[in-house]
Amino acid sequence: MSRIQTLPKHAVYEGNLVLVNARHPLHPGYHMSFAPVCGRSDMLLQRSAWVLLNALMDAIDGWGKIFPVSAWRSQQEQEAIWEHSIKDNGLDFTKRYVAQPGCSEHQTGLAIDLGLNSEHIDFIRPDFPDAGICAQFRKNAARYGFIERYPKGKETVTGIAHEPWHFRFVGTPHAQIMTQLELTLEEYIAFLHTYSPSHPYRLVFGTNNLTLFYLPAEEQADTPFPFGSRQCHTVSGDNCGGFIVTQWEISR
Ligand code: DAL
Ligand code: ZN
Repeated sequence: MSRIQTLPKHAVYEGNLVLVNARHPLHPGYHMSFAPVCGRSDMLLQRSAWVLLNALMDAIDGWGKIFPVSAWRSQQEQEAIWEHSIKDNGLDFTKRYVAQPGCSEHQTGLAIDLGLNSEHIDFIRPDFPDAGICAQFRKNAARYGFIERYPKGKETVTGIAHEPWHFRFVGTPHAQIMTQLELTLEEYIAFLHTYSPSHPYRLVFGTNNLTLFYLPAEEQADTPFPFGSRQCHTVSGDNCGGFIVTQWEISR
């Protein structure tokens, strides 16, 4: 048996998998559900990203050793960072390490820059070495839904230099799949676009059978999609014109 659900048009621009980069700016109607990072009102994340970040930090006893450097940024803040960086570091450096205002993942509240705690922490390029507590964070990140968003060797795909300090919440199972297949968010969204409801990407995830597929949004109306009564599902907009649907079977 299947039921019909509809996905509203604005949902294309919402969700853990939204792709935000120079070619896909954040939609002006993007909705935030803010949570303060470590109780700080000047450091905000989307609530789900904060809950999982905190769980990961608790698991590795990371707070105090790892410092939250920059989380959600408003359009005005991203503009100020962009302009100051051009003045201080020049345009070439800025284009490599700062996203154009309107095109920064920080504006989604799903990204955070983390630095090894020390007396001097660089705001644009904090130190996050592949050793000690930072390596432990990186090793566990995917299990809690986080990916290193700008990896080395993928600069031409992401349009941004290697940023070992910038982590993006995409949720599970996506973070694990992306880490295992070594895909950036750009590549993962393109990969999922090749799958449809009738030809989904299937995988065994722990004890669950999962299917993932892409659903293009209707141009002028809400998008209908049928789902089985024995299936749970999550849906995220991709900010590229459609939805990523993740379904898993409920065993009897
Ligand atoms: N540093 C990243 C690319 C940003 O400014 O969003
Ligand atoms: Zn960042």
